[in-house]
Amino acid sequence: MARRPLIAGNWKMHKTVAEALALVRDLKRLVAQVRDCDIAVAPPYTALFPVAKAIEDSNLRLAAQELFYENKGAFTGAVCGPMLEEVGCHYVIVAHSERRQLFGETLVTSGKRVKAAFAAGLTPIFCIGETLAERQANDTMKIVAAQLDAGIEGLPAATLRRLVVAYEPVWAIGTGVVATPQQAQEVHQMIRERLRARDPEAAATIPLLYGGSVKADNAKELLAQTDIDGALVGGASLDAESFAGIVKAASVRTRGQ
Ligand code: 13P
Repeated sequence: MARRPLIAGNWKMHKTVAEALALVRDLKRLVAQVRDCDIAVAPPYTALFPVAKAIEDSNLRLAAQELFYENKGAFTGAVCGPMLEEVGCHYVIVAHSERRQLFGETLVTSGKRVKAAFAAGLTPIFCIGETLAERQANDTMKIVAAQLDAGIEGLPAATLRRLVVAYEPVWAIGTGVVATPQQAQEVHQMIRERLRARDPEAAATIPLLYGGSVKADNAKELLAQTDIDGALVGGASLDAESFAGIVKAASVRTRGQ
């Protein structure tokens, strides 16, 4: 079963509508020829709808950065899966470490969000990763495994197979300190094995993205690792040339096993 690479840009709280439209206009042109790699952009909520219209005729897909797990109700400030699906989202990022650290998301709510995303017809990009203190305490594998288990708990195999997982070590996010390809591969391999124990087909089909200070000049080596199928990119996705450089590093081959 082949796994297509996926390069997703998480814009975080950057870009007005006008800036977002300028960025996707340039990006569309730069990656128009790419056929062997999935590409997604995750603008802030305010820019989702205009960006959806702007990329309709392109090979870019839309992602949201977050969703709440209820579908309606008195949840001030929250946005649900069906609303995201309606404005044209294909993916939604779930449980990003900034949501866990700054907005009180827990292991339990990450599982609810993954399920809510699937229920709305969205593909969750489920984020897991250890802090620096956890790595230094040699707890990386234990922490990441527990986060993975919480996010996929209770998912039927057929649903699980449609998940995307992003390993984002917290110490590598926005710091310029990228995990070495070996450090990332080690964790990705553990994630793949854990998925295989649940369902061999899920292990074969789920793209495992690496995130944390990915740039055009380090992407190739990371993506050359057996179990790294793509990237979730923060800072370098805010500039069309640098994001396109990462897409091109990924588009050299379709991965498989
Ligand atoms: P940076 O690429 O800026 O390190 O951010 C990674 C990230 O958090 C993507 O979700």
